[in-house]
Amino acid sequence: MALDAASPLDRSPSIEIVGLRHVYPGGHVALEDVNLTIESGLVGLLGPNGAGKSTLMRIICTLVEPSDGEVRIAGYDVRTDRLSVRGMLGYLPQDFGGWRLHRVEEVLDTLARLSGLRSKSTRRERVADVIDQVGLTEVARRKVKKLSGGMVRRLGVAQALIHEPDVLVVDEPTVGLDPEERIRFRQLMADIGRDRTILLSTHIVADLGAACREIALLDAGTIVFQGPPSNLVALADGKVFSVATSVTYAEQIEAEYEVVSRAIQGGEVVLRGVAVDRLPEGADAVDEPTLEESYMAFMAARGRSEVARQDDEVDEPTDGRDEE
Ligand SMILES: Nc1ncnc2c1ncn2[C@@H]1O[C@H](COP(=O)(O)OP(=O)(O)OP(=O)(O)O)[C@@H](O)[C@H]1O
Ligand SMILES: [Mg+2]
Repeated sequence: MALDAASPLDRSPSIEIVGLRHVYPGGHVALEDVNLTIESGLVGLLGPNGAGKSTLMRIICTLVEPSDGEVRIAGYDVRTDRLSVRGMLGYLPQDFGGWRLHRVEEVLDTLARLSGLRSKSTRRERVADVIDQVGLTEVARRKVKKLSGGMVRRLGVAQALIHEPDVLVVDEPTVGLDPEERIRFRQLMADIGRDRTILLSTHIVADLGAACREIALLDAGTIVFQGPPSNLVALADGKVFSVATSVTYAEQIEAEYEVVSRAIQGGEVVLRGVAVDRLPEGADAVDEPTLEESYMAFMAARGRSEVARQDDEVDEPTDGRDEE
């Protein structure tokens, strides 16, 4: 191909998955016939606990070899072009949080060196850039163990970006963050997703935000939906209800339906929830279901009502967040 120094495979989709299957030793089938094409921008990988999100991400990042099927990153095969794939990818694992005794800039400098940046001055610049990008400049000299949960996640993003990858894979980055840190993280993903591909897994739908171009929904190892968020919302038409009622009847509805929110208004209980085939008596279908409600309606229709929500989260301890 011409004089272009970039890969001849440049026109390939960022992530291309065909007929992927993964069976863990012991026989558990974690992924089955997964087909997924991701072009660019911020893409949300949604799914309840155990759906296979982390398995899929580890395969994409070449950390787990799939049992069957093809996975290509910008045209490079995760099995045979492992090094090329790694060069193109940044990965924030679900359990990122090591390096506790090191300072933020030391962590990033070491990782920059490992990624092949030899020159000290180039490294210094690169480290300062990513620190600035994720908003950690003020704590650049702080030890990791003294960062808040949100800061640790942002450091995780910084380490994933240190070699300027085209594709970023981020696994459940907002678990345990407070609402303010969540919003900040969402904004960071929207910013970074403007000029690269991000695959972000979560079971908290609200964390995907408006910048999310596409959603892939994984359930029990299989992709059950892929498309823009608006398509998922359209599928929920008529299935999300709102009702204002007495405490007694509200309890009855809560026992029978998946309720998303509950508020007390002027002596009545106002419920919003999802219905699989029939709305509760006296309830109206809402005009504009939220993405979270639409996701729950979709999963409820699949007989999966135990979808974890934000208020089910357990916060992780974050020690000494305000000391130096
Ligand atoms: N190393 C392993 N050995 C055997 N089974 C595994 C292994 N890792 C994961 N599994 C199983 O594979 C399935 C998918 O797990 P995975 O971690 O990919 O799900 P997930 O969607 O990331 O879940 P979560 O939301 O809890 O992070 C689960 O049933 C899990 O128990
Ligand atoms: Mg996971």
